[in-house]
Amino acid sequence: MESFTLIILGITSNLAHKNLLPALFALDQKGLLPKSMHIVGVARRELSSNEFHDLIAGTLPTNAESQQKEGFLSRFHYISGYFEGMESGEKNLYSKLKKFLDSHGEACDNKLYYLATYPNLYPAIFFALDKFGLNTQNCGWVRLMIEKPLGSNLETAKALDTLLHKYFSEDQIYRMDHYLGKETVQNLLTFRFANSLLSPLMNKDYVDNIQITASEKIGISGRGGYYDLVGALRDVGQNHLLQMLAVATMELPQGFSNESITKERIKVLGSLVPKPDRVVFGQYNGYLYEDKVSPESKTETFFALETEINNDTWKGVPIFLRSGKSLDQTFTQIVIVFKKPSDKLFSHLELSSEPNILTFKIKPEEGIAFSILTKKPDIKFRLQSNLLEFHYPEQSIIPEAYEHLLHDALIGDPTFFTDAAEIEAEWSFIDPILTKKQPIYVYEPGSPGPEEATKLLSSTGREWI
Ligand code: BG6
Repeated sequence: MESFTLIILGITSNLAHKNLLPALFALDQKGLLPKSMHIVGVARRELSSNEFHDLIAGTLPTNAESQQKEGFLSRFHYISGYFEGMESGEKNLYSKLKKFLDSHGEACDNKLYYLATYPNLYPAIFFALDKFGLNTQNCGWVRLMIEKPLGSNLETAKALDTLLHKYFSEDQIYRMDHYLGKETVQNLLTFRFANSLLSPLMNKDYVDNIQITASEKIGISGRGGYYDLVGALRDVGQNHLLQMLAVATMELPQGFSNESITKERIKVLGSLVPKPDRVVFGQYNGYLYEDKVSPESKTETFFALETEINNDTWKGVPIFLRSGKSLDQTFTQIVIVFKKPSDKLFSHLELSSEPNILTFKIKPEEGIAFSILTKKPDIKFRLQSNLLEFHYPEQSIIPEAYEHLLHDALIGDPTFFTDAAEIEAEWSFIDPILTKKQPIYVYEPGSPGPEEATKLLSSTGREWI
């Protein structure tokens, strides 16, 4: 692999510690990082090199060998300063960064910037990188990985994109939605299209409904300042849930290429029908007392909604999405509920109208399960419901989403990153839902969410799986 320098802007952030650094360490252990690669951490606070190394070391697995840790830590360098770049002369953050980059590595070194900062800093960062010539691709490549939220509605997402394109060309921009890097989300693509079994069944003739749930026991984890501005629908609905839906329902791409796969995701996202009257918002009791949350806040910590894909394959199939914080369980799954059997052969038996259910399990365990009816081993003729399951031999062998995506950005493969048209399609779907003022139902922490979310399905004769 070509050598490069990774610059993490916001190295002291929660995101860097929870996701990026463990993923980089795992890639290093697998021999997937070039030997001479440098990692530059950038943050506002002053830190001595010992303090910085302790900070990074604290994010590494406790059972890792000290030699492995030392090797990894030796890649790191720290630069402090203001992202806004207000210091003058040599004290300026970007001036220090340029000096470092000029003095380390090759003249044509490749650079990957990872923005793990608050989005309100993006404009200042783009401007400063440009001013110091740190975004130009003379000989080596320069890439930018940028985290959600990309805008807060269609208008601001478009404005951010215009800004991005002022300083970077499209082939330099890697927009992250870490759900596209999840092993089982990528496996879903394989399961659907590598097996001839499923494709003929994935349409309105066979599927009764689709349900996607991302339920979390944790609350907002001290992120009130961010969360209260966005809410559940923007935090995970506009991105993670819609991307899972896109991968679960897209048509067969013409080839395994970024262009073909992205094109199919965009087609689905662009065909989603917003139904602002079929939405339930909730807020957990106690949210208003969270740090940095307005005591008057109307921000939702839960949503459940119904939608539909307006294309020949899926028209008329109800799709239900839900997600929330402080719920009774932590699990993320995509469920395809097939139509009830139409053959009457077993209609005299109990369970005969149980539908087949295909579940892609994303969290906490990953895997695939398909519920089927079989004969109960007995002299008497009875039915039983069973599972055909796919398990990974060990959950620990599954690469983390950030490992997949960092690696993809390093090798220049944008297939599992979102492009601007996708983000716009997502906001076009979300905006009308957010614009329509909805009541917010209060639910108890540790409960499955507001009762109204159950009614959303029961009003159609269905129930959440
Ligand atoms: C993040 C959201 O994007 O995804 C968090 O900001 C959420 O609120 C998280 O908890 C869920 O990701 P994962 O990988 O833990 O399912």
